[in-house]
Order: sequence, then C-alpha cells, then structure tokens
Amino acid sequence: MEIIITSGYDEMSRRCARIIADEIKKKYDIVLGLATGGTPIGTYKELIRLHKEDGLDFSKVKSFNLDEYIGLSPLHKDSYNFFMWENLFKHVNINPGNVYVPQGDTNDPEEFCRWYEEQIKKAGGIDLQLLGIGGDGHIAFNEPGSSFASRTRVKALDKQTIEDNARFFEREEDVPRFAITMGIGTIMEARKILLIVNGEKKADVCARFIEGPVTSQITASALQLHNHATVILDKAAASKLARTEYYNWVRDNKHLVKKWIGR
Ligand code: GLP
Repeated sequence: MEIIITSGYDEMSRRCARIIADEIKKKYDIVLGLATGGTPIGTYKELIRLHKEDGLDFSKVKSFNLDEYIGLSPLHKDSYNFFMWENLFKHVNINPGNVYVPQGDTNDPEEFCRWYEEQIKKAGGIDLQLLGIGGDGHIAFNEPGSSFASRTRVKALDKQTIEDNARFFEREEDVPRFAITMGIGTIMEARKILLIVNGEKKADVCARFIEGPVTSQITASALQLHNHATVILDKAAASKLARTEYYNWVRDNKHLVKKWIGR
C-alpha cells in the first residue's frame, strides 16, 4: 500500500482528484468505482472544477457505485443515487446511460446483485475504485466480519454505522437498516484502489487497517492484499500511524529511484 499523508482535507481532495483525472486522461473510457459519504465531496468538487476549467472529459467514462440503502428509491433525497447526481454527475458530461448505482427499491435484491456483478464484468471490470472508510473500518457497507470473498449482496448495517450515518438523515430511525453493497471480493478485483480518509476520529481505525493485522473485523485491512492500493490521509487521520517518517520519505523521494539505477 502506498501511504500519502497530506496537510488537510483540501490537499487530500486535490491529490485524489488529480490521480483520478490522470487516469481518465490515460484511458478516456475508464471504468470508475465511486463512493459516497462526506469524505469524497471535496474530490468530486475538484473533478467538477477540472471538467469546467480544464475540459476533463467524462463522456466515455463508466461508473459503478459501491452501495445503496435498501428501501430508498433512486430519487429519494437521502439515497446514494441522489447524492451522486447532486455532488458529481449533474455537473459533468457523463452519459447517464454509463452510470450504475445499486437500486435500493428493487423487489428482488438477490437477482439485482447478480445483475450488477454481471454489468461490472461486461464493462471489463473496474479500473480505478475510489473508497472511503467507515468508523468501524468498513469499505462500502462491508461491515466487520464480511468475507473477503464476498460479492455484491445485501448486508445488515452495524449499530455504529447507523449512528455515524444518522447525520445525513432527519432522525436516526430513518436510517435504513440494510444496504446493497459490492463485496470485498468485488472491490479487490479493481485494477487500482484509492482510499481517502480524513479527521482525527478515524485515526485509530487508520492505524489498525494500515499497520495492524489483516482481519475481516476491519474490512479495509483487505487492501493490504491488493497489489495497487493507495491511501491518501490528512495529518489528523494519520496521527496514530507508527511509520509516518517512512511514508513521508517515500512520498517526497519516489522520483529518485531513477538516480539509483545502475549506480
Ligand atoms: C458509508 C459508506 C462508505 C463510506 C462511509 C464513510 O458507510 N457506505 O462507503 O466510506 O460511509 O463515510 P464518511 O465519508 O461520511 O465518513
């Protein structure tokens, strides 16, 4: 895992957006995996700026969102589908036919999950997957104990997740208790993974998933097994990491590798 520590939320967002933009420029019909929550909002704002000011082109980009609450229709103001349109899609030139978000009000979730996995496969797999992390270490809605082999499926939300996400709803009772989520197995098949995290509240969980043992109790720790995962943190989220000095040295000196070849 490459660990990039940044000064704060804005720098984290800018760096993340720049990586995504560079990948889009390299492959104009890239398949992105996208995330929701408070953390990626700054990244999406920066991508919108790059689209408006630098002409970053989303016209051939495909995207698959990680998850959606069961019971909310795509137009519900608290749905992840609505979030994505408000915070990214409606501001860029993405083709609505290329946008996939799990359908929270499906009558047949099992069949839907099978169909979603099939669409990812048909698209050629996910090139770059963006992730946030929940307070209990989850990625997407893969709560503690989720199998590392899991595929897109229905998952019951943990008490901590319901409490954490209540801030987006009028009342805690309104937070759905179930979600459709890509599995850890689905996420791990992405060619590249980019996880962003900020704030002191997540410092403990960052130390555990980056430097602790790989365990299904902290599902983000599965990323230790991925061959191209990058974590961008702000200083506060990185404050409990033990190997900060090494990560910063690598961040600032990566370009020197060429100088060492053939010495
Ligand atoms: C939800 C989402 C996750 C997200 C997490 C953290 O649980 N399913 O994909 O990473 O929230 O959200 P936030 O960025 O608001 O802390």
